[in-house]
Amino acid sequence: MALNTTNPTETSAWKKLEKHYSEMQKASIQELFQLDESRTKKFNLKWNDFLIDYSKNIINQETLQLLLQLADEVGLKSAIADYFNGAIINQTENRAVLHTALRAKKSAIINVDGSNVLTEINEVKSKIKLFTNEVISGKRTGFTGKPFTDVVNIGIGGSDLGPVMVVEALQFYKNHLNVHFVSNVDGDHVNEIIKKLNPETTLFVVVSKTFTTQETLTNSETIRKWFLKSATQEDVAKHFVAVSTNIQKVTAFGINPDNVFPMWDWVGGRFSLWSAVGLTISLAVGYDNFDGMLKGANEMDEHFKTADFDQNMPVTLALLSIWYNNFFGAESEALIPYTQYLQKLAPYLQQGTMESNGKSVGRDGKPVNYQTGTIIWGEPGTNAQHAFFQLIHQGTKLIPADFIGFVTPLYGDNDHHDKLMSNFFAQTEALMHGKSEEQVQAEFDTQGISADKAKFLLPFKVFTGNKPTNTILIQKLTPETLGSLIALYEHKIFVQGVIWNIFSFDQWGVELGKQLANSILEEINTKTVQTHDGSTTFLLNHFLKNK
Ligand code: F6P
Repeated sequence: MALNTTNPTETSAWKKLEKHYSEMQKASIQELFQLDESRTKKFNLKWNDFLIDYSKNIINQETLQLLLQLADEVGLKSAIADYFNGAIINQTENRAVLHTALRAKKSAIINVDGSNVLTEINEVKSKIKLFTNEVISGKRTGFTGKPFTDVVNIGIGGSDLGPVMVVEALQFYKNHLNVHFVSNVDGDHVNEIIKKLNPETTLFVVVSKTFTTQETLTNSETIRKWFLKSATQEDVAKHFVAVSTNIQKVTAFGINPDNVFPMWDWVGGRFSLWSAVGLTISLAVGYDNFDGMLKGANEMDEHFKTADFDQNMPVTLALLSIWYNNFFGAESEALIPYTQYLQKLAPYLQQGTMESNGKSVGRDGKPVNYQTGTIIWGEPGTNAQHAFFQLIHQGTKLIPADFIGFVTPLYGDNDHHDKLMSNFFAQTEALMHGKSEEQVQAEFDTQGISADKAKFLLPFKVFTGNKPTNTILIQKLTPETLGSLIALYEHKIFVQGVIWNIFSFDQWGVELGKQLANSILEEINTKTVQTHDGSTTFLLNHFLKNK
């Protein structure tokens, strides 16, 4: 079944939400707490090792009810069923969207074109496991018989960001293998990595769903040339493996078909880390940890599929985001994990969110008349506090933020962890409460600041507060909880796409620049600048003259 084409603004919930917004736009979260003693109890969700407190939002019970009504009116329930059952919901590419099948139980049955995809998924998982164990144990060796010491993931976009993010996030669980990532077509990137490598002991994992991506093919070619300075063509088979749907192109590149880990067109690039695209993750942390991550994601899938919407974590986060994006006019959302391990979470979710929902045409083929795709950005706390929190606290923009923290630190250093977490709690409280004129004045009084100086300084020291946040508090960063966390955001993206009536799983918007780059490359190679706009011609001529 295809997803329906309901324009959300034409639902009765949307109209009620517009009216409700006019009543809520000036509401104070602090006052909402005073009005309702049971607010925290109402606005938090507990599931497995996760607690989400969303009471520090500009919402009341009615807001939530109307948002839930919106979810019902756009047919979210049946959309979720279509998503998990392998319906062709990526209609512009005529594909199912089944990254969730990659983490389904071994015994699950999910049919695509009449055959159960779990059969192939289970086979590929066994291949990943065997390969991982052989590399880690040293049973599989390089061309001189030495065990591998380094692994290089060559890929870009979804074939890079997921593995990079997870390898960083699960560093604590890492083994002895050094893992590197080459993504940018910038030659300086690949050369910086190459200089750290020994060809005898390095394994290259070329990851490209299409195997047509300029960056990945260029980097793989450069690396192969470098490798062949020390080894023979035959040795390539021992050192290069590929992950792709395009076996023909992989073979043409010279990679042995036995060394190919297949994936499928129903896995979107930005949701592919659960497939063989995660091979580098498995190599870095071992197959059991990779599998633990899949298990955690599967548990979140089950929660998303079965929990009532008012108890459903992805649905709740998605609805809150719609509330701010579409009614308050918030353009971006900050993502602040209070752990250095999640430093790559924001870039990862930038692709997940913005490539998925950065669309302006509805599923009915008509331009949308409302805002879609939120802008995601963020950095780990506390670093972020010293970088951009000024703008969140006192700037002119409303920036709803998700704070993600963990109860237990991995090395058990409670001194550091308590300091970290005191910042975590303090920031959401400060964002909500702000600091009133009276409070600032009282501080001036105790500091003995002169009346003139106090008068001048006062407006700069006031914090208006009322900045909404969600607090996601997780017991501990493990492969399982990380899997659940990623799946939580994946499903948030899905819910928003359904409500916004857009196709979340294509990415036509990245094509135009690629096409133009190809024709400009030709002009650079032949040193003949064709007809461009004045600016581009001027820039190209400058580049060609000075290179
Ligand atoms: O940037 C566009 C895109 O198609 C992404 O969606 C994808 O993750 C990335 O390029 C890499 O594509 P591939 O895995 O086919 O090399």
